[in-house]
Amino acid sequence: FSLKEYNTFGVDAFARQFVEIHTEDELIHLFSQPIVKQPILILGGGSNILFTKDFEGLVIKMNIGGISHTVAETSAIVVAGAGVVWNDLVWYCVDRHFWGVENMALIPGTAGAAPVQNIGAYGAELKDVLLSCRAFDTIRGEISTFDNAACRFSYRESIFKNEAKGRYIITSVTLQLSLKPNINTSYGAINAELSRRNIAQPTIKDIAEVVSAIRTEKLPDPSTIGNSGSFFKNPIVSTQHLKQLQSTLPDMNFVYYQLDDNWVKIAAGWLIEQCGWKGKRVGDAGTWKNQALVLVNHHNASGSDIYNLSEQIIQDVNERFGITLEREVNII
Ligand code: EPU
Repeated sequence: FSLKEYNTFGVDAFARQFVEIHTEDELIHLFSQPIVKQPILILGGGSNILFTKDFEGLVIKMNIGGISHTVAETSAIVVAGAGVVWNDLVWYCVDRHFWGVENMALIPGTAGAAPVQNIGAYGAELKDVLLSCRAFDTIRGEISTFDNAACRFSYRESIFKNEAKGRYIITSVTLQLSLKPNINTSYGAINAELSRRNIAQPTIKDIAEVVSAIRTEKLPDPSTIGNSGSFFKNPIVSTQHLKQLQSTLPDMNFVYYQLDDNWVKIAAGWLIEQCGWKGKRVGDAGTWKNQALVLVNHHNASGSDIYNLSEQIIQDVNERFGITLEREVNII
């Protein structure tokens, strides 16, 4: 079964078997069948995965749909099936003035994949709005509920990528969103774009539109050029390490965010650009001209071509700065 249409890198890889799941019951039933006695890969939007080879097992594509909400005094509770396209969920909330996800407009992928890597952008993270999620436990064969703390979120991390990797299949997410306007313009680029548009008092729709415009300008559209957003995480290093780098490389204007007194998060795109990789290509694998953190498939790159490019980048950044970039994308 070809996975080319099911990964945003547009890499041509095959799965031994493939099923689509539309309800929790279908999933529970599937796991009572012998077909699950083989390696299993759960797929949402395929926007955070790189296939470097075929998948010798069963791919389960999560298509559980549906969005619903209830409104309490100060907040709205929104429930979305795992297969809901994340951006559709964002606009469902924006249209109803439920505040909290508007800064995450246009992040590719599905609602069910969102908790796995605690998606985030423009000063907002899923962990700030996720109340709970439901997940099928493949060991016990039943649905469990994870509250926010149980998900063990941190920057681009959760229990689903770590301790419990492979065990749970998220079937729905529940968000708690504010009914009170709660504008988050902590991220400079949003403010800049708002002033450029002469918007002094942005509505929730303004924020979602501005974020979408910024993303569209900076990030390549996977339907025309294969990619999976940021390929690496922004590395977190000690303030001391950064100071040391600044004193040995005094001409360089490091781009970083101070996390606390001891730690900083350095912009990986900047590090990669400084190593001369921005907009470069090796065959059909390359980095994006407007954002070096995004690796792209110019058409016919294989997963290995892209992976090999990422290895070269890691090596160069390491040699130059003594920092080891970690991939954000799942490698198969
Ligand atoms: N920069 C460069 N050169 C580049 C790219 C970036 O110098 O080629 C510098 C610029 O100074 C820029 C700064 O790095 O101002 C930060 O870049 P950007 O605003 O694009 O954000 P990022 O830190 O590179 C992160 C997320 C993105 C998210 C943006 C906006 C990660 C790994 N990536 O990127 O998330 O959209 O912030 O909040 O944390 C994703 O995860 O797939 C993703 C796209």
